[in-house]
Amino acid sequence: MIKFISKIIRGDLPRISKKMVNNNGIMFNSINRVIHGDSLKLIKNIPDESVDVIITDPPYGLNKKGIENDNNLNVFFKILPDCYRVLKKDSFFITFFSTKLLPKLFENNQFTYFWQFILYCPNASVRSPIGFTKYMSCFIFKKGNPKMVNWRKDIFNDTPGKMVEPDEGFIDHPTPKPKHFIKEILTMFTKENDLVLDPFLGSGSTALACKQTNRRSIGFEIKKEYCMLAEERLMKNFKDLNYEERKS
Ligand SMILES: C[S@@+](CC[C@H](N)C(=O)[O-])C[C@H]1O[C@@H](n2cnc3c(N)ncnc32)[C@H](O)[C@@H]1O
Repeated sequence: MIKFISKIIRGDLPRISKKMVNNNGIMFNSINRVIHGDSLKLIKNIPDESVDVIITDPPYGLNKKGIENDNNLNVFFKILPDCYRVLKKDSFFITFFSTKLLPKLFENNQFTYFWQFILYCPNASVRSPIGFTKYMSCFIFKKGNPKMVNWRKDIFNDTPGKMVEPDEGFIDHPTPKPKHFIKEILTMFTKENDLVLDPFLGSGSTALACKQTNRRSIGFEIKKEYCMLAEERLMKNFKDLNYEERKS
């Protein structure tokens, strides 16, 4: 593991104080960082209406090995009100969700449904009631009446290999999501320099996609090993990244 892992922030963020809030009311010292900790607590430190978009991939309630809090959907539903709170007035909330448990997504959900993405996985062999599932579902919700930045499409292809990124190789996380897909949706729903929150960062795909498209990001992840992986991926992609500078 590369030496930069020691730069991961551990534990909770300090509480918001006036000193930590910039002119836009955004907590600047957590931006472009992998934050190690429980997103249910960490999100409380983000000011109201300070985030441009949330793109996330929460625990699905499917008991997937290696995914923390995946035995039910409690964590997702507990964080949803804070996701609504931190998003700016007219903004999008984009989330992967289990097709199996889909009806639950619309229960106790303050957001308004907008549209759905299909991530087609030709090589998938996950059992489902109709045989084998060949797609993943990703849903777009809105708060207020946001405008899309660019119109594109709603069906994308998964990466050809499971847990493999073409430019990086094997990603040692049970459910990494393709960067090319996240980058596409970033260009559809955000502008350069917008602030993107992913409260369930996993292997860091959202942070990496943000960095590669000049968006700012905040990412929370509860498992230290995945924070390390995310940092490692960021460092490999951006050898010139000056972490000491980012610390200040
Ligand atoms: C489905 S995975 C996300 C995978 C990610 N999209 C990627 O590309 O690697 C969900 C992640 O949420 C993390 N997680 C679960 N509960 C959490 C919590 N309370 N706070 C922060 N992270 C949590 C899990 O450890 C897991 O890595």
